[in-house]
Amino acid sequence: ALQASFVPNIKPRQRFPNQLQPRASTYKVAILGAAGGIGQPLALLIKMSPLVSDLHLYDIANVKGVAADLSHCNTPSQVLDFTGPSELANCLKGMDVVVIPAGVPRKPGMTRDDLFNINANIVKTLVEAVADNCPDAFIHIISNPVNSTVPIAVEVLKQKGVYDPKKLFGVTTLDVVRANTFVAEKKNLKLIDVDVPVVGGHAGITILPLLSKTRPSVTFTDAEVEELTVRIQNGGTEVVEAKAGAGSATLSMAYAAARFVESSLRALDGDGDVYECCFVQSELTELPFFASRVKLGKKGVEAVLSADLQGLTEYEAKALEALKPELKASIEKGVAFVQKQA
Ligand code: NAI
Repeated sequence: ALQASFVPNIKPRQRFPNQLQPRASTYKVAILGAAGGIGQPLALLIKMSPLVSDLHLYDIANVKGVAADLSHCNTPSQVLDFTGPSELANCLKGMDVVVIPAGVPRKPGMTRDDLFNINANIVKTLVEAVADNCPDAFIHIISNPVNSTVPIAVEVLKQKGVYDPKKLFGVTTLDVVRANTFVAEKKNLKLIDVDVPVVGGHAGITILPLLSKTRPSVTFTDAEVEELTVRIQNGGTEVVEAKAGAGSATLSMAYAAARFVESSLRALDGDGDVYECCFVQSELTELPFFASRVKLGKKGVEAVLSADLQGLTEYEAKALEALKPELKASIEKGVAFVQKQA
């Protein structure tokens, strides 16, 4: 399989050796919320993927220009724009992967849960359309609060009779990206080598980086563990405060989401060595959904890996127990939102 990467210092010619005769650009990807702060840079990164043949951009406004702009990049994929609910079905037909970053972002002082009322409805409506038009697609949910929007998506897919737990993902890649970056900085490690699994959910204390499982193996003092854990959990807030009212993480999120899309496409393409942390239906704990490392394959989640949760440090084991009530409540809130309306 073609090795795609987002390493920035590769020359275009090296990056796309098959540009004239694309060998593997066969996958169709849609972004719902494509004109937004995440959607635009995410669309650009996906436009750079040699694995993509069609890139469909959907939003309720302002997406025509984004698509026109991107369509001038001489990479294999064809970019099409779709505006408003009347064009949503056409956007979705035949898609392999649907990424959903539609919704409102946080402002200073807001938690991810404060976004619930607006984003819950948006995700519900969009997932209904996915169920009707491309029920076999991988669905990547970015819209917050992910701990609740994923259960919302599940309920919608169940109501439509097309729920496949292997193909629905809450995107937590940014937590892993942050953990890798912060650990590499703190320990003077080569960034590219560092891999920290992050489990649990995607909000506050439900984000649990398992620093003891960092690869390459590295030791931390108790104070470092505390400082790094809190920084990774609050990475989103760091950005929200720095942007001072102008939104939340968009560029790093786009990077993280593009990595998750690329991993999904490599898995679809038959690469047997694709692992990512994400928020999925899970039996690892007593909670119905849980983020952990999973193996991705052609049909979606091939295995939810349990190894990371074995041999936890005392700090990690305590943090795991402490996050469960909040994560459980967020999951139940999402389920109740859909069931109330049924
Ligand atoms: P944004 O406001 O810049 O963009 C959102 C886009 O969604 C806008 O273009 C808007 O027109 C569109 N939109 C609104 N309603 C829609 C609908 N019904 N159908 C289609 N599109 C619709 O927001 P931004 O910064 O791009 O954030 C998007 C979401 O991603 C937020 O919920 C944010 O909290 C979440 N997020 C998730 C992260 C994660 O790690 N999973 C990290 C950062 C943000």
